[in-house]
Amino acid sequence: MSLLFGRSLLTLLDYSPEEIRYLLNLSMKVKSEAKKGKVFRRFEGKTLAMLFEKRSTRTRCAFETAFGEEGGHPVFLSNSDIQLGGKESLEDTARVLGRMFSAIQFRGFKQETVETLAKYSGVPVYNGLTDLFHPTQALADMLTLEENFGEVKGRTLCYVGDGRNNVARSLMIICAKLGTNFTVITPGELNPDDELRKKVSPLAEKSGSVITITPDVGAVKGADALYTDVWISMGEEAKREERISLLSKYQVNQKLMDMTGKSGTIFLHCLPAVKGEEVTADVIDGAQSRAWDQAENRKHTIKAIMLATLVKKI
Ligand code: CP
Ligand code: NVA
Repeated sequence: MSLLFGRSLLTLLDYSPEEIRYLLNLSMKVKSEAKKGKVFRRFEGKTLAMLFEKRSTRTRCAFETAFGEEGGHPVFLSNSDIQLGGKESLEDTARVLGRMFSAIQFRGFKQETVETLAKYSGVPVYNGLTDLFHPTQALADMLTLEENFGEVKGRTLCYVGDGRNNVARSLMIICAKLGTNFTVITPGELNPDDELRKKVSPLAEKSGSVITITPDVGAVKGADALYTDVWISMGEEAKREERISLLSKYQVNQKLMDMTGKSGTIFLHCLPAVKGEEVTADVIDGAQSRAWDQAENRKHTIKAIMLATLVKKI
């Protein structure tokens, strides 16, 4: 039986390094099968509820195509389609969805919502992004790093930008678990929260990962990858001016890429990107960028998560 059969993925804090390793290995297998044109029906007879409170291109398309092309039936449900903590309680919606679907994907605001869905539905629930975490993204990011560098242990990933957002937080967790050094370059006002730092610190100690948080852009020196994300995450539009004034010194441009001192440094971005804000067009569209591989890897890693948790014998 698959190691993760029946499990939800709400945050990578719940997954051991071995379980993350298992998912990354399975993602590589799934990607190589896809490249060879192999077609399977491993989700035949299964259904996936895809709940979206926030917009999505990659996450929605990855879940929907990965599940549907193997015979599963994904159903897209936006906030305007269903009762989600509106007229009906979230617990009741979760109970009903659990009777009709094999699994649930949720993208939205509160982490609490995805946790409640998992608690009351009784089926695997996948976090497709909340304000706190973006675990499926971090898996695709590590797969992309592995494709470029082989072993990720001992490599240095440097995140430049809004250090307190869902993407930075999930990267911090996965790096701490896998032994990848993680440097967050962000103004002090946007530091990752102390609660998370306390949780990852023993994990990093165990894996040998060095976690650094600094406002100094000079800390990119020696980085194997520079990563950035939008300065204004979904739901934070009112903070636009404040963020631009805090983060304008933290743009990833060619000068910053060159400051790593390594010609092999790659550029990563979870996308969508606002070219001219957190990254310049020449960097994201240039030779060092792996952002498009990263986007493709969302699909392979998401398929791997669903296979591991929904299919007894893969
Ligand atoms: N990276 C990511 O989650 O993209 P979407 O918002 O398009 O799903
Ligand atoms: N931090 C971004 C990630 C988008 C994939 C957001 O939450 O909007």
